[in-house]
Amino acid sequence: MTTRQPFIYDYDYDKKGKRYAGHRRTDPHIAAHVHTALRNARTVLNVGAGAGSYEPTDRYVLAIEPSAVMRAQRPAHLSPALVGTAESLPLDDKAVDASMAMVTIHHWADMKKGLLEMRRVSRQRVLIMTFDGDALHTFWNAGYFPEVVAMEKRRYPPIDWITEILGGHCEVQPIPIPLDCVDGFQEAFYGRPEAFLDKEVRKAQSAWGFLSEEQQETIVGRLAADLQSGNWDKKFGHLRSQPYFTGALRLIIADIR
Ligand SMILES: C[S@@+](CC[C@H](N)C(=O)[O-])C[C@H]1O[C@@H](n2cnc3c(N)ncnc32)[C@H](O)[C@@H]1O
Repeated sequence: MTTRQPFIYDYDYDKKGKRYAGHRRTDPHIAAHVHTALRNARTVLNVGAGAGSYEPTDRYVLAIEPSAVMRAQRPAHLSPALVGTAESLPLDDKAVDASMAMVTIHHWADMKKGLLEMRRVSRQRVLIMTFDGDALHTFWNAGYFPEVVAMEKRRYPPIDWITEILGGHCEVQPIPIPLDCVDGFQEAFYGRPEAFLDKEVRKAQSAWGFLSEEQQETIVGRLAADLQSGNWDKKFGHLRSQPYFTGALRLIIADIR
């Protein structure tokens, strides 16, 4: 196992995350999987907590988040987040029952260190929600936005790399995404392709942040043309009414006892 990650992580949420919470919210269907996986954990640490998506409200939750812009978007009913990073968690060994990291590990400067930190501070379980780079091409955007998918594949660490570091008994659950998903990551719009024409939607998806405005316009133009001509609907129109799509979203549940 390599200690130096070959992945891209450099994305500044203090500069680019100002309207994150407007488009990225807890999706209740996805949250149900996360909360079930937390089982009977009474104390939970949320790492890379952002605006608080997927945090349970029926347990003691400690949130850690490095970006001030993201911390400022936490709703009033959640606890404030502490300033910190995954790589150096300000907690004692086995301080919480469970820790969770929701769509954040691909942003960490040292993923291995962060994962080992989560394992260190957790008594029972570690939950990682992430995307499987090997499954990203199963979504139609691979045909329209190959540059974005190629970028994403370089950002997400392999699932077995994560499970190997976490150790213990790991379960990897593919998570079905609902048609009306309110957490606006790319696959959330599998049946609502027009969403990608909205710059604000793209701004809440970090992969686009690595491309220039011009590159984005060219890429999105392909989709816009096919939507206008009806070509997209001929090939993928059935997705507009498909209730769920299972693509690359994964929940890794590591029992560390
Ligand atoms: C895509 S957002 C996810 C936020 C939240 N977990 C959610 O599900 O909406 C990624 C988050 O990871 C945070 N982050 C970046 N580097 C980090 C690090 N080294 N340790 C912990 N969090 C980090 C970012 O500031 C950002 O809030």
